Amino acid sequence: RKLFTAGLLGTAILASTAQAEVRDIRIGVDVPYEPMEYRTPEGELTGFDIDLGNAMCAEIGIQCEWVVQAWDGIIPGLAARKYDAIMSSMTINDERREHVLFSEPYFTPPSAWFAPADLEMATPDESNLDGLTIGVQRGTLQDNYVTDLYGDVAEIKRYGTADDLVLDMDADRVDIGFLDYPVGKSTLLDSESGEYKVVGEQITEPKEYFGDGFGMAFRKRDQELADAFNQALATLKENGTYDEIFQRYFSE
Ligand code: ARG
Repeated sequence: RKLFTAGLLGTAILASTAQAEVRDIRIGVDVPYEPMEYRTPEGELTGFDIDLGNAMCAEIGIQCEWVVQAWDGIIPGLAARKYDAIMSSMTINDERREHVLFSEPYFTPPSAWFAPADLEMATPDESNLDGLTIGVQRGTLQDNYVTDLYGDVAEIKRYGTADDLVLDMDADRVDIGFLDYPVGKSTLLDSESGEYKVVGEQITEPKEYFGDGFGMAFRKRDQELADAFNQALATLKENGTYDEIFQRYFSE
């Protein structure tokens, strides 16, 4: 157990006389979601979220343990106290805000369409997606978006993990995938399994679907914990650690 004084948590809590305490925590994460969270060949968790999360925990002065959890149960697992936080490329949006408390965004990538290089399509829309199969990870904002916009014209294939989607793309069982851009880039564009390309523009709107960037999620009453991570994130951005971790996964 580590104690630290309210001063570290910033002026809001400084005003109170109580000492803020943030203790060792567990963080839920769905893998694989390369390059955000995945395993090395040796089975060790790695990725941008893992390194950034560990760096924030070190900055706060606590030990963090990662708990692997399937995406479709990741918010229920937080409520059930299987872990105390989620850091899993979770996009901050209003629907989720009803259930969890988000940190400040730590990364704001777009979504994008990915398809085999030989698919001829300028811009995915209702007419040229008609009759195709679209792959997404189940329960993601990408699932919500394609279901609402194209669910009537296309067949939506929903996968438990991003890797299962990639396997089906490699096997030609799905025509086009809709993914968080960095994940499609890493698992499709940069992979050796096949030739892939981005189709159309990168997508960030409407906010109702694409939200406000990736955030850590906490139980609603854990404002102090969220504050500690927000403060740590600000420090890591100031002192260059954030950039160093960013370069590790996103340098061209
Ligand atoms: N950013 C997307 C969302 O929030 C997908 C995140 C999936 N994350 C994962 N680790 N599988 O809906």
